[in-house]
Amino acid sequence: MRNFTYFNPVKIVFGKGSIASLSRLLPGNTKLMIIYGGGSIKKNGVYDQVTQALSGREWVEFSGIESNPEYETCKKALEMVKSENVDFLLAIGGGSVIDATKFIAAASMAGDEDTWKIMTGEYRIKAALPFGTILTLPGTGSEMNNGSVISRRATKEKLPFMNNRVFPQFSILDPETTYSLPKIQIANGIADAYVHVVEQYLTYPEHAPLQDRQSEGILLTLMEEAKKILKSPRDYDARANIMWCAANALNGLVACGVAQDWTTHMIGHELTAHFGLDHAQSLTIMLPALLRHQKENKEAKLIQYAKRIFRIDGEDKTALTDKAIDDTETFFKSLGLKTRLSECGITLKDTAFIPEKMCRAGFKFGEKGRIGIKELEEILDLAK
Ligand code: NZQ
Ligand code: ZN
Repeated sequence: MRNFTYFNPVKIVFGKGSIASLSRLLPGNTKLMIIYGGGSIKKNGVYDQVTQALSGREWVEFSGIESNPEYETCKKALEMVKSENVDFLLAIGGGSVIDATKFIAAASMAGDEDTWKIMTGEYRIKAALPFGTILTLPGTGSEMNNGSVISRRATKEKLPFMNNRVFPQFSILDPETTYSLPKIQIANGIADAYVHVVEQYLTYPEHAPLQDRQSEGILLTLMEEAKKILKSPRDYDARANIMWCAANALNGLVACGVAQDWTTHMIGHELTAHFGLDHAQSLTIMLPALLRHQKENKEAKLIQYAKRIFRIDGEDKTALTDKAIDDTETFFKSLGLKTRLSECGITLKDTAFIPEKMCRAGFKFGEKGRIGIKELEEILDLAK
């Protein structure tokens, strides 16, 4: 096992009715700004629960954070933070609203810097406004981590940043807020969480059996609970289990002491930036292709995955790995998600620029840095 430091300060308040505890989680005497998206929280009662919990407090609101949050929108929120002297932020929504809030929190304390430099890494975050979150769409894990992904449509960029100063102070996870999700967003969330685990698990053996079993526990639970939700959308426990799986899939725990891949996500970000695919949709297309391409490098873990997740028997290594990848693709399809670029009307010619763009600074991908331009071309070809 590799050396590691594990740090996660996010207070989780989980369960039915937990939005009512908002007031006790917030510091006293604060000027609060609530941040939300296109208005789902006004239709499903979450906004009303929040305003009730905030009665007697001073607060302003900023709405209109879009999916794959846009830098220009975040800059508008930033102006409001300054003009209203806001000192605490509250994100209410899915990964996009939470990620935008993390960026706004850091940008608010960046003085006169060009705030895009937070995304390029040219500006090192020194401080951030404190914030909390109320999660309404489980999937990204943003509610319990220090990462954020911001898009800039003008330049077709979608970049991530990570910093310990943008851990939420608290996150409220009430599974009942997810009843209003459209089926496609439930599927997206399950697939995103699944791929997060796979990125940290399907590499090579690191002699970390606890982390392996934690990962396998999340994967198996996601698959079991996905079936229940698809059959009975009002199944509270299935909602709750998926919500808790998604947080655990990307809160740093399963990454302790092990190699990580993330190639699927990095190609996925390019597909979203250029073709507007939902984040999860980009992953369910790219993961099977990536695994097929990397099946020799990942063989030992793929065999473990085949046996422990899909309960495939046998000694033939190729048969085991091939079947495990096919079963992964079948699982994504069972969620109603696409697994090929052509299903989204994207041709290989359309994606031809991606490998070079991703490797511009000589960067290589994969747990062993073996994936360069040629390999990315081959992976995209396998996803066609
Ligand atoms: O904007 P509103 O009206 O709220 O509607 C949203 C949005 O249209 C809707 N929605 C959310 N909760 C709802 C609901 N509709 C009905 N009922 C509810 N309870 O769902 C739509 C999608 O929301 P969005 O936040 O965009 O989805 P998601 O949570 O999948 O977030 C995607 C973003 O997160 C990033 C992705 O790249 C993408 O930009 N990620 C962030 C990560 C992180 N910070 O750690 C890791 C991930 O890998 C990912 O990259
Ligand atoms: Zn993701």
